[in-house]
Amino acid sequence: MMAARGAVCRWLLCLCLAARVLSAQDKPAEKNPLAGQPAAIAEGRAIFRFTCSACHGVDARGGLRAPNLTSGVWTHGGSDQSVFNTIQHGVPGTLMPANDLTDTETWQVIAWLRSLEAKNEAVAGDAQHGRAIFFGDGNCSSCHMVFGKGGRLGPDLSRVGAARGSQYLRDSIREPSKYIAEGITEPNKDLAQRYQQVTAITLDGQRLSGVVLNEDTFSLQMLDRQENVHAFLKSELRQVIEPSQSLMPAYTPDVLSDRDLNDLLAYLHTLRGQQP
Ligand code: HEC
Ligand code: HEC
Repeated sequence: MMAARGAVCRWLLCLCLAARVLSAQDKPAEKNPLAGQPAAIAEGRAIFRFTCSACHGVDARGGLRAPNLTSGVWTHGGSDQSVFNTIQHGVPGTLMPANDLTDTETWQVIAWLRSLEAKNEAVAGDAQHGRAIFFGDGNCSSCHMVFGKGGRLGPDLSRVGAARGSQYLRDSIREPSKYIAEGITEPNKDLAQRYQQVTAITLDGQRLSGVVLNEDTFSLQMLDRQENVHAFLKSELRQVIEPSQSLMPAYTPDVLSDRDLNDLLAYLHTLRGQQP
């Protein structure tokens, strides 16, 4: 009986959601009624600082947890109506929340974002060459998966261009330990993994290093550098070492030139969840 009721509820919820999607699609594409108005732009900037800047950065060029909104490239649609819907309803399954801004406030924010877009320089770099570095000399694909190709020691990067801003990406390559990947939504994982580096020393003195998959007070599950999964009870281990640095090596300018870095960044920017 309970199960049946649950099923009916879920069914009703689906109907409501479907109706909502339909009604959003039925509306004629709307244009921002406040576009270009200086008062609206100023108001939008203030709302953004208060509500959005913690993730997207004060200047909307991308922050620790969210992408640049001024590049003119939109993963979820760049029309006024699409940006409006993204802001009000969020992006389910990612850190981007739904917002309860009024329609006017939402248009004000969009007016401000558009005023920045015009001034923004495009990502300079050769994405094709960046891809060659990623799968070749840079060795990035030994640890990172992109559209099903590559390793698993680091996060899947198939959507990293949608999820992260350029400064964050630049720092992730030059100084990986500055921030450890957090809150990235990976195509094949329900929960965000932290990729904590770990070395486990067994009672007989064997050392295994890699990243944590799962850990609690009594057990540790890890992936070693050869991508073998190990599950230990902590009582079977002499020591568990978890350094605060990233497992990813820092690609300093002597290893990766500024020019190659820009090419890599141009490539990462194209990764938005859909194979080109
Ligand atoms: C808790 C962090 C967080 C907050 C707060 C937040 N966002 Fe986001 N936002 C994100 C993330 C993460 C994404 C990328 C979603 C993805 O992976 O596709 C995003 C994506 C977006 C997009 C889609 C970009 C595209 O390329 O299509 C827009 C537009 C946007 N945010 C606007 C806003 C606005 C406006 C606010 C404030 C009202 C806001 N966000 C607040 C995290 C946040
Ligand atoms: C030895 C394995 C290894 C190699 C090689 C490696 N990475 Fe990583 N990478 C990781 C791990 C582990 C993380 C997660 C911990 C962290 O944030 O540093 C990571 C994180 C990242 C992130 C941050 C993802 C996010 O959303 O927070 C980016 C971007 C990235 N790597 C790009 C690259 C690029 C580009 C290369 C090649 C130039 C590369 N990586 C080479 C292991 C590696």
